[in-house]
Amino acid sequence: MSDSSQINDVISLERVGEIALVRIDNPPVNASAQPVRRGLIDAVAAANADDAVKVIAIYAAGRTFIAGADIREFGKTPKEPSLPDTINTIEASAKPVISAPHGTALGGGLEICMGTHARIGVKGLRVGLPEINLGLLPGAGGTQRGPRLMGMKNTLDMSLTGKMVPGETAVDWGLIDGIEEGAPRDVALKAAQAVLDGTLATRRTSDLPVEMDENALADARAMIAAKMPFLDSAPLVVDAVERSPGDVQEGMKFERESFVTCLKTASGRGMIHAFFAERAVAKIPEAGATPRDIRKIGVIGGGTMGSGIATSALNAGFEVRLIEVTEDALERGTATITKNLEGAVKRGKSTEAKMQEALGRLTPSTEMETLADADLVIEAVFENMEVKKDIFTNLDRICKAGAILASNTSYLDINEIASVTGRPGDVIGLHFFSPAHIMKLLEIVVADKTAPEVVASGFNLAKQMKKIGVRAGVCDGFIGNRILAYYGKTAGYLMEDGASPEQIDTALEAFGFAMGPYKVGDLAGLDIGWANRKRMADTRPEDERYVRIHDRICEEGWFGRKTGKGFYIYDDEGPRPNPGALEIIAAERAAKGITPRDFSDQEIVDRYMTAMISEAARVVEEGIALRPIDVDAVFLFGYGFPRFRGGPLKYADEIGAAEIVQRIETYAKDDAYYWKVPAILRRMAEDGSTFEDLNKEG
Ligand code: 3HC
Repeated sequence: MSDSSQINDVISLERVGEIALVRIDNPPVNASAQPVRRGLIDAVAAANADDAVKVIAIYAAGRTFIAGADIREFGKTPKEPSLPDTINTIEASAKPVISAPHGTALGGGLEICMGTHARIGVKGLRVGLPEINLGLLPGAGGTQRGPRLMGMKNTLDMSLTGKMVPGETAVDWGLIDGIEEGAPRDVALKAAQAVLDGTLATRRTSDLPVEMDENALADARAMIAAKMPFLDSAPLVVDAVERSPGDVQEGMKFERESFVTCLKTASGRGMIHAFFAERAVAKIPEAGATPRDIRKIGVIGGGTMGSGIATSALNAGFEVRLIEVTEDALERGTATITKNLEGAVKRGKSTEAKMQEALGRLTPSTEMETLADADLVIEAVFENMEVKKDIFTNLDRICKAGAILASNTSYLDINEIASVTGRPGDVIGLHFFSPAHIMKLLEIVVADKTAPEVVASGFNLAKQMKKIGVRAGVCDGFIGNRILAYYGKTAGYLMEDGASPEQIDTALEAFGFAMGPYKVGDLAGLDIGWANRKRMADTRPEDERYVRIHDRICEEGWFGRKTGKGFYIYDDEGPRPNPGALEIIAAERAAKGITPRDFSDQEIVDRYMTAMISEAARVVEEGIALRPIDVDAVFLFGYGFPRFRGGPLKYADEIGAAEIVQRIETYAKDDAYYWKVPAILRRMAEDGSTFEDLNKEG
């Protein structure tokens, strides 16, 4: 063997004295794609064949060790060698093989480490088995070798939460043998030398015993039943770990079969789609523009939204100026921000010191003039065009050149708001979701004249705030609220025609939503939708079926949780249907001469989802969303859409356009005004194409 040789495009072998260093270089995250697997087997074989080599050490180039199997290979015809076979071959090596992971060793990457004969992590290492986040389970020995190294309980925790743990914790658990500082190659070399010196012990993980832990298995099963009933892979994780005290190869056979089964389930496909959705939304036409430098952020309005936005900006390290009209309102806003920050301390997500430091960056003021040096101003006052125009006229006068002027409006026309300024290129919509310091979604609304670098700045801000930015065009409600306004009507029709709010909620919760629409409405405040319907009343088409139930409930002063009553009653006895609301429903049915009919839970879900998909299709058709996957991201990260279903348009692909068109045509027999087939769905039904095809076109 020469001193240095290239095994293939991604694996190289270097000999340093009696040590063979195997280097993986498969950017961006060294995923264990087929050439990596092939190359690792060949490198270990070459090192075994070289008489001068006594120990083999695997490390990786770039930002991270192997971040897992190549997710892009899932669903395609598997290519030999498989990852389990690769790891078995490494473990069977006659000469000791060690690994020196850095960055993140995840999924298949961690399983490779488990198959080596010792593991020394590079400082900063984090490890995890995140397959569950993809609707899968570890598929290359993690459920069998994991318990041998760190016990059943830690293996179950790691593979059911999917969370990463620091390398130091992994050392405490026995999963990693030690952590060293240095470059990955140096750490690998040093660890290999320690093997030669006899100071680092090596052994085959498969030879180690597993202690049966019935309690851990029972706890895991109880947790799954309570918290993750929808994921096919979760119970299989426990079944696989339960087998670990037996023969490793037998256990791996079960694990692999389960893994392959999960790849074919709808929940596996949905979760993988959600993984890509989170990343796809960053691919925008303005990606090449240079974002503006933002340090000081002004927030106008100290209500729930404004305070949440200010909290989020403080958490991201910005200096924040909060503007309100009166000292009282300013005090309330500051109190809300303090409460938000305290909440994070209570949940163990922050510390008292960090909270004080953040509050030190907050300057409350009643003077809008103090925004003169702000790099970005986000207006978050109530939804009134005249008020917003007035604020933007003032901002245009006050703010420095190059400042970005943003509105957090949920519905209103950003072009109209921008038109009152002499700098429409600097104006953008930044639509946060309540509670703004918690919700991941940020709709970035691009108006006709918004400059590309302002759009890029919005996406940069989302990243700094650890949010998912999704590009949206201007229309009433943008992507999310526009679609919500449409399918919300379906829920109203179902209710007026015979389903109770509770039945509708229960059916949709069984579909996977964390909360049904009526519970969500009560939580968010029914007065918000009421105000919006009043705003739209003059322009409501005469042919549209209008359900008055919500308005009548609001007329009673029942706005949901905050008033103790809405569709449900909230008091010490716990939420239950509000008889007053049921009376209103009955009265409205009677007034319209509707004889209530029975709906099956399936019909409720079908009608609700068909409505959501129809309007989502129109949003794509009109270019309001860049791609179908952007709509999916909006619903996953802003509307509690069940992640295992991948998003409304992923779900549409699972059903197929032809079926959706057929449903719309059936429903249209009763209400042809509301139920219309979007052209895009009609075309897909005819040519058999899918929303995923559109995603691929970009
Ligand atoms: N396969 C294929 N592509 C991957 C990938 C993977 N496992 N992990 C990340 N990528 C891609 C991303 O899609 C992204 O591509 P893009 O630039 O074209 O959008 C690029 O790599 C960079 O990823 P991120 O933007 O996420 O980079 P970060 O630095 O923010 O995060 C990370 C890095 C923590 C490694 C994160 O990418 C991550 O969590 N990846 C997924 C890890 C995972 O789930 N692994 C398990 C896979 S399943 C498995 O191993 C099965 C086995 O048990 C048999």
